[in-house]
Amino acid sequence: MKTDFLTNIERSKVSPKVGIVYMSPNGSTRDVANLLVKELAVMGEVRLFNLSDYESDEGRLEIQNQLAEIPILGIGTPVYQLTMLDPIKHLLKGLPSASATVNEPRKAFCFTTFGGVNSGKTLLHMCTNLHSRGFEILGALKLLAPHFYDEDVEFPIREDRTLVLEFAVIVRQRLEKPVEWNVLKKKLNCMSTKVKVLYPFVRAFGRFRVTKIEFDKDLCTVCGACENACPVHAITAQDLPRKRNGCLPCFNCVMACPTGAMYADVEEARSTIRFNEKHVGGEPDREIF
Ligand SMILES: Cc1cc2nc3c(=O)[nH]c(=O)nc-3n(C[C@H](O)[C@H](O)[C@H](O)COP(=O)(O)O)c2cc1C
Ligand code: SF4
Ligand code: SF4
Repeated sequence: MKTDFLTNIERSKVSPKVGIVYMSPNGSTRDVANLLVKELAVMGEVRLFNLSDYESDEGRLEIQNQLAEIPILGIGTPVYQLTMLDPIKHLLKGLPSASATVNEPRKAFCFTTFGGVNSGKTLLHMCTNLHSRGFEILGALKLLAPHFYDEDVEFPIREDRTLVLEFAVIVRQRLEKPVEWNVLKKKLNCMSTKVKVLYPFVRAFGRFRVTKIEFDKDLCTVCGACENACPVHAITAQDLPRKRNGCLPCFNCVMACPTGAMYADVEEARSTIRFNEKHVGGEPDREIF
């Protein structure tokens, strides 16, 4: 998969105007990334990077190098256990600071899909990180979206598409007329008191309640479906149940397994999120900051 990307880069010698990087175990964040690509294309080439396509350290370094050349970055993640996914966290940590790279001031925007709780804090962490590296922040977007246990939630619905379109317009406007960081930060921190008090406790307890994934060797046909479904390449069908570092956990392997050899109590996973929602509190389904 990495080679597809490298071939594209070699083919296109012109630096893109916008780079959008995301990870999306269940596909909703990917849908938003694709909509943004379409809406921002009027600005110039928009290149999309799906972090799941890069298995090796070498591949990830390649992304960092490519991103260093792109003046406007968009970063997208789902909210897991009240924050961004670890691969996105690592990407942000590894980004060179804006002043060290291209000549023009570098700008960034962030987006997240979430299941009902703490997207504001996630966006705040992402934007603060980018701002501390010298990026001018153009804005942030959050949209409520389902995971595998939320089959009745449709995504993206018309309201989601409309908001993505509005967000793209705002991003373009703020290129000319930037929003002050302190103003944006305050908006993102809208649930600050509640989140500050409850966040560490709920996060710790939420992690403690992470649903365990079990494996039954007798049921496994070594078909590879779980391996193919893993967005972070943490498992190999030949070597189950051993997991390499970095399991999210997203339960894609459980959902993909045709024999039930890989299984988990998804009701328990759902109840952990409901627990978080109850203790940190709900928030609007979709918002632009
Ligand atoms: C293990 C796990 C933990 C999650 N934790 C949260 C959470 O703390 N807050 C929240 O709002 N949504 C949470 N969600 C829901 C996802 O953020 C949401 O469904 C998101 O849209 C999935 O994005 P994707 O389709 O791009 O993977 C969680 C989902 C999973 C599987
Ligand atoms: S091992 Fe399974 S739960 Fe963990 S990241 Fe991979 S697919 Fe998701
Ligand atoms: S999907 Fe299930 S049966 Fe197939 S390799 Fe994975 S655990 Fe085994």
